Amino acid sequence: MKYIVANWKAHKTISECHAWIDSFLHHVLQDKDTVKKLENDEVKVVICPPAQFLVPIQEKCKSYRNIDTGVQDVSLYDEGKFTGEIPAKTFIDLAKYAIIGHSERRSIFIEEEEEIETKIAQCKTYGLEPILCVRGEDDAIFDLVDIVAYEPIEAIGTGKNMPAEEVVEVKETLSLMPGQIFLYGGSVTKDSAGSYLASPEIDGLLVGSAALDPDHLFQILKHA
Ligand code: PGA
Repeated sequence: MKYIVANWKAHKTISECHAWIDSFLHHVLQDKDTVKKLENDEVKVVICPPAQFLVPIQEKCKSYRNIDTGVQDVSLYDEGKFTGEIPAKTFIDLAKYAIIGHSERRSIFIEEEEEIETKIAQCKTYGLEPILCVRGEDDAIFDLVDIVAYEPIEAIGTGKNMPAEEVVEVKETLSLMPGQIFLYGGSVTKDSAGSYLASPEIDGLLVGSAALDPDHLFQILKHA
């Protein structure tokens, strides 16, 4: 199975969110080949919008096998008196996946390993599957998760994607566990997606900028 994870980051309004999901699902429905791949568990799409858009997206996707929702982060805190926080528990029945340790969280919000471990634990307590983002071996707490997304800093949002062969070389240097799902993220577009998805060593993609456009994300999905 190939994973296409769409990270919207902090973008879109509710009306843009509806327009995005309607357009994306329209593309999917029009394409028998994609519908078949989704139904046969050959490909999975995980849409990670800002948390307030989970409900409408989930409502529209619930009849589709393998189009799931994810969150971009969870609170460090469990439920309680933490005004403004969004704990993992509040995502029960709304999301299946959670991006944890994204490089923007690490660099802008100075998230350290200990916090990332706590967030992974929160995800597991409440049934969210963590997708751990790493920038390299230094971020190695790989043994805590089933899905790792390798995102070299110089490739994120810069247009300078790392070629698939180099990604595979880096993968060999990481202390991954057998069977762990390995994704690549960093400036993936419809033109580069095919090279990653053709590799048996790369289980899918974490897509940022290109995922903001439903047509573009669909073109990426077509390569899976
Ligand atoms: P990008 O973002 O595709 O815009 O480089 C990827 C990410 O940050 O997850």
